[in-house]
Amino acid sequence: MDHTVVMRPSVCIPSLRAAAYTSNTIMENLAIEGRNLSYSITTKQGKSVPILKDCSLRIPTGQLWMLLGPNGCGKSTLLKVLAGLLKPTIGAVYVKKPRSFVFQNPDHQVVMPTVEADVAFGLGKFNLSQDEVMTRVSKALESVGMSEFMQRPVQILSGGQKQRVAIAGALAEACKVLLLDELTTFLDERDQIGVIKAVKNSLSESGEVTALWVTHRLEELEYADGAVYMEDGRVIMHSDVPSIMSFLKERISSYTDQINS
Ligand SMILES: Nc1ncnc2c1ncn2[C@@H]1O[C@H](COP(=O)(O)OP(=O)(O)O)[C@@H](O)[C@H]1O
Ligand SMILES: [Mg+2]
Repeated sequence: MDHTVVMRPSVCIPSLRAAAYTSNTIMENLAIEGRNLSYSITTKQGKSVPILKDCSLRIPTGQLWMLLGPNGCGKSTLLKVLAGLLKPTIGAVYVKKPRSFVFQNPDHQVVMPTVEADVAFGLGKFNLSQDEVMTRVSKALESVGMSEFMQRPVQILSGGQKQRVAIAGALAEACKVLLLDELTTFLDERDQIGVIKAVKNSLSESGEVTALWVTHRLEELEYADGAVYMEDGRVIMHSDVPSIMSFLKERISSYTDQINS
């Protein structure tokens, strides 16, 4: 297996810029903390355009949180900042490591011909025995409910099954934080539920993996421990699920009233 040829897109990102965080972050056992994050891009004309504006969020270890908001509000940009793929213009980021970013398109997630080889793909760098590799692969596949697919070619899997294999790859690498960007966009309803349940199950089995799940589907909120709602580059609300649900219902009904009037 040549690990230098193919790069899995959902790689664990081992180390980043020096984490700026306080003892509070550790005392409260947060897995993710972003403080006053801003991110701007510079246009060809030299103009600075803000994408993220003073965003703060705090996600406790072991929980599944959703990041919600309309298209173009900055969810993917914030996730990339938390993954260390983008450097914030202002602000501080702390995310437990290793962390893994899983992208939207299931066909970009899998790189090896069989499920087993794909989940084992990232383990080459750890210098593990064959037995240890097998144990990690089996455990990770069990967490995402894909054990019986271990010997199958990845090409026959549905989109959601490919996403679950990609998540298993991250879990096999002992990832502490999963950053998941709209994984259910291209999936049918059954596949969508399979992926979110797999994430939920992986978190409850390990107790120490944390996930931030970007979505625009409000029905996925029922699986979450908390949620962050964004609009126009800002965090508008950061709370438990019932509070965010009633906030969003209120928002939708006032929007509908505006249209009707
Ligand atoms: N590299 C970039 N260059 C120009 N505009 C960008 C870039 N990245 C993001 N944007 C813009 O920033 C906004 C937020 O994008 P994004 O984070 O992808 O939103 P979301 O994931 O919520 O749909 C959008 O208006 C998008 O067009
Ligand atoms: Mg996006």
